[in-house]
Amino acid sequence: MAVKYELTKESKDTYARLGKVHTPHGVIDTPAFMPVGTQATVKAMSPDELKEIGAQIILGNTYHLYIRPGHKLIEDFGGLHGFMKWDGPILTDSGGFQVFSLNELRKISEEGVEFKSHLDGSKHFFSPEYVMEIEESLGADIIMAFDECIPYPCEKDYAKKSMERTVRWLKRCKKAHTKTDTQALFGIVQGGTFKDLRIESAKMTIDIDLPGYAIGGLSVGEPKEEMNEVLEYTVPVLPKGKPRYLMGVGSPDSLIDGTIRGIDMFDCVLPTRIARNGTVMTSEGKLVVRNAEYSRDSKPLDEKCDCYACRNFSRAYIRHLIKAGEILGGRLTTIHNLRFLQNLMKDIRSAINEDRLLSFREEFFESYGYKK
Ligand code: GUN
Ligand code: ZN
Repeated sequence: MAVKYELTKESKDTYARLGKVHTPHGVIDTPAFMPVGTQATVKAMSPDELKEIGAQIILGNTYHLYIRPGHKLIEDFGGLHGFMKWDGPILTDSGGFQVFSLNELRKISEEGVEFKSHLDGSKHFFSPEYVMEIEESLGADIIMAFDECIPYPCEKDYAKKSMERTVRWLKRCKKAHTKTDTQALFGIVQGGTFKDLRIESAKMTIDIDLPGYAIGGLSVGEPKEEMNEVLEYTVPVLPKGKPRYLMGVGSPDSLIDGTIRGIDMFDCVLPTRIARNGTVMTSEGKLVVRNAEYSRDSKPLDEKCDCYACRNFSRAYIRHLIKAGEILGGRLTTIHNLRFLQNLMKDIRSAINEDRLLSFREEFFESYGYKK
């Protein structure tokens, strides 16, 4: 099997755990935050810079890379690893989120989904089999099954039909997936915010023996408490010996609260997206460095941070770069936000190791300015 999960410690007072995900391109210490590189680049970051901020795995996106430049082209360059020259682990999402969120004109059937390209309006069709072919060309270490991510709120009837179809699609994905010794296929649990559907989905998904499981369909507009509830009844159904990935979630509070509920892997575009708009995460909460109040501020973005941006530059300078539309501004804030999250995950792992995750949560929420 391409991916092996090594459970190294279980938390005493929460469902959190420490582990290592072994992949053909290296090891990921979990719980882990995975930076998103939709178009074969984590926007504004070179592979060397990703290494420097401590990233151990990055994401790529089947939908975007299929549309442009095309999976066959990427395959000719040695897959995503050869094409983008990132030699660490890569995970590709299946397009099961993008074809539903980016396309208004999609048509879903048992066979798959017809959709229009967001670039030129051309028609395309994704079936589970075709998505596996594309993800095999892209060559990531972990590949996600083709699923349907339903919106929130959603009628229970539809949530059930969609969840059952996602399970049938998963069976087809597994059958179509051939490169099982170099790529690990992860299944995705769906079912909206309905307890019985989530549990049924989790059971049917783990019946299909796979190297890892994800929880999808969350952080789509539901209140945080509802997401936490879904995790509370879904995660315990999943096997202890496999990694658990919460898709599309990466705000600091959710990283902590997801970890407490037994999640091992997270991803989110938000930290890099808000960075480019001039918002950074700091040990004292969010800071909009593009605001006028920082125009003469000589402090670094975060005095507790050890990133390249914080070691060298003032808030005033970074604010100026962003106001002036200079590329370096967004690069520095991106470096900082990604380093902030890598440091947060490291702190979370230490807290698990020392059985003090709940008090760590209290302290972090207090200093970040979250309500408890
Ligand atoms: N990213 C965030 N949520 C989801 C989901 O439900 N499915 C997939 N494939 N990707 C996601
Ligand atoms: Zn920093």
